[in-house]
Amino acid sequence: MRFHSLLLGIAALGSMASGAAIVAREEKKPAAAEPPSTKYFRNRNDLTGHYDVRFFKEVVEYDERRDTLTHLAKAWLQTTAKEGIETWIAHGTLLGWWWSGNILPWDWDLDVQMSANTLTMIGEKYNMTRHHYTSEDGTVQREYLLDVNPWIWQRVRGDGNNIIDARWVDVRNGLYIDITGIAETNPDTPGILNCKNYHRYKPEDIWPLRDTMFEGVPAKIPYNFDEILMKEYKAKALVVTEYEGHRWNTHTKTWDRAPEVPAGRQAESLLKTVREPEKYSTVESGGFFYNAFRLLHWW
Ligand SMILES: *[C@@H]1O[C@H](CO)[C@@H](O)[C@H](O)[C@H]1NC(C)=O
Repeated sequence: MRFHSLLLGIAALGSMASGAAIVAREEKKPAAAEPPSTKYFRNRNDLTGHYDVRFFKEVVEYDERRDTLTHLAKAWLQTTAKEGIETWIAHGTLLGWWWSGNILPWDWDLDVQMSANTLTMIGEKYNMTRHHYTSEDGTVQREYLLDVNPWIWQRVRGDGNNIIDARWVDVRNGLYIDITGIAETNPDTPGILNCKNYHRYKPEDIWPLRDTMFEGVPAKIPYNFDEILMKEYKAKALVVTEYEGHRWNTHTKTWDRAPEVPAGRQAESLLKTVREPEKYSTVESGGFFYNAFRLLHWW
């Protein structure tokens, strides 16, 4: 951490001498023949890459990250409800909701979706707006930036640089929610909605949205959330109870930190060596019925 601040300090000094220095640091200069990158949202290329480069100060610790993401989510849900912006939780964030109604504690960013029409609307009406937030108990004050990618009119993947359509950024440390739009883009497959990263949905998978709670705040989820989760993460993600340094606590219904559970590179290399059946050894003994119940009780 110290080291990072030091580096940044040096970079800042350097940039006083030449404003171009800092730009050069963010992204390697393309070779003369290549066109400049079209990428709108730039991330910091550190261990995690999960910070918006404009607001990055230093890598945040576990507790601060969780606190940041929790309030990011609450603020997003409250602001969009107040402004009448239709949005629903998606990807890993939806998986977190499925388990406990909360963020997954090992996540670095959150994901929400909206229709491409809503995206266009927020691009026109809310781009670069800043939103003040106070937690219910009044102890936490934050500011968030809603930034909309100018490439939202392009609904296909293109060069892959702009698959994230908008961001809700905590301006204190650069952590964010990724916002992506889904739209019908392929005339050969009418009635199929997709984001720019090839996730595909039928309108009836999404609408009518279901009302739920996330991080203690009213939220919306896709109608067929279970099918969506199964397709994206496979059934395994709904039953495995040890993951990324955490263990599912059946009693409290929370993911608790468990240092003995492998995480990061260690977990990756284990996954490569462990044979298929062993991967499932962490499935709860009460297994099938308990998990089938979990799947059904939201209906
Ligand atoms: C949002 O504002 C930024 C900064 O002014 C601009 O670069 C970007 O193109 C805008 N996005 C849209 C969708 O207009």
